[in-house]
Amino acid sequence: MLETAERSKQDFARGVLEGLAQEPPAIAARWLYDDAGSALFDDITDLPEYYPTRTEIGILRDRRDEIAAAVGPGRSVIDYGAGSLTKTPLLIEAVKPAVYVPVDISGPFLRDSAAALGERFPDLPIHPVEADFTRAFTLPAEVSRHRRLGFFPGSTIGNFVPESAVDLLRSFRTTLGTGALLLIGFDRLKDERRLVAAYDDAAGTTAAFNRNLLERMNRDLGADVDVEAFAHEARWNERMARIEMHLVARRATAFMVAGHHFHFEAGETIHTENSHKYTLHSARLLLLSGGWTPLQEWSDANDDFSLILARSEAERFAP
Ligand code: TRP
Repeated sequence: MLETAERSKQDFARGVLEGLAQEPPAIAARWLYDDAGSALFDDITDLPEYYPTRTEIGILRDRRDEIAAAVGPGRSVIDYGAGSLTKTPLLIEAVKPAVYVPVDISGPFLRDSAAALGERFPDLPIHPVEADFTRAFTLPAEVSRHRRLGFFPGSTIGNFVPESAVDLLRSFRTTLGTGALLLIGFDRLKDERRLVAAYDDAAGTTAAFNRNLLERMNRDLGADVDVEAFAHEARWNERMARIEMHLVARRATAFMVAGHHFHFEAGETIHTENSHKYTLHSARLLLLSGGWTPLQEWSDANDDFSLILARSEAERFAP
């Protein structure tokens, strides 16, 4: 256990040092999610300004019969958003799978969420897979007899730059095979003020989530970052159609982490997260680029969020 903790600290140190060495400095978003970060993220999903979670849940609830009809019962469901204890039960109740396969990179997290779902659905066979879903992996043998449905909620696809998003969709395709379905959530392009507010809420929860990265550096790596010297900023990048989260130096500040010195002038930033926003057209094009043909779309009345059902067709040559 200790060894694992040590190794993950080393990985974190490497991630931070590599990220800060980039120009402009950018630390990968996965490091936002230690225990404190994950708890803060949970709080974010309940904020009045953060519409995506409740909107997606509303779509799953309101369009349940249509989703059930389009997917059909008896599939194996591969859940790439393992652990959403609100979204997953809605999906399971709608599509009545034969097998449920939650996928997550964190073993303990996976075991907890599989246990919670097992209590709720005692007759459903559950086969958790501990894997990094950005790479293709082999599905458990029990799964291969059933047609597959991948589930990728939360607009997590938006946290990948388009090139990586296409790689990810292609690796889903490799794992799930041709003829599989994918139900995937996309956050939609909308008024800039609402987008910025969703990532910079009045209560300061998203700011705390972002600044937790600096606190984590102090806590786990013995860094001496003056956390108060950095402000949270959610910035709309029009050209890239994405919200960016940054930590902006309020004044000149310096710190040391793992034996390396860093200096920031006032206004310089550490880029910590992207959340790309899509139109129906750009979402469809992204899916097609990754080898998935869109079949059906469900959105809320306001077009704030969309769930798209797509199928991996067999490879086809031009034209
Ligand atoms: N995929 C979600 C989104 O982009 C969740 C998320 C990732 C998020 N990083 C975040 C939400 C930072 C708030 C702040 O919205």
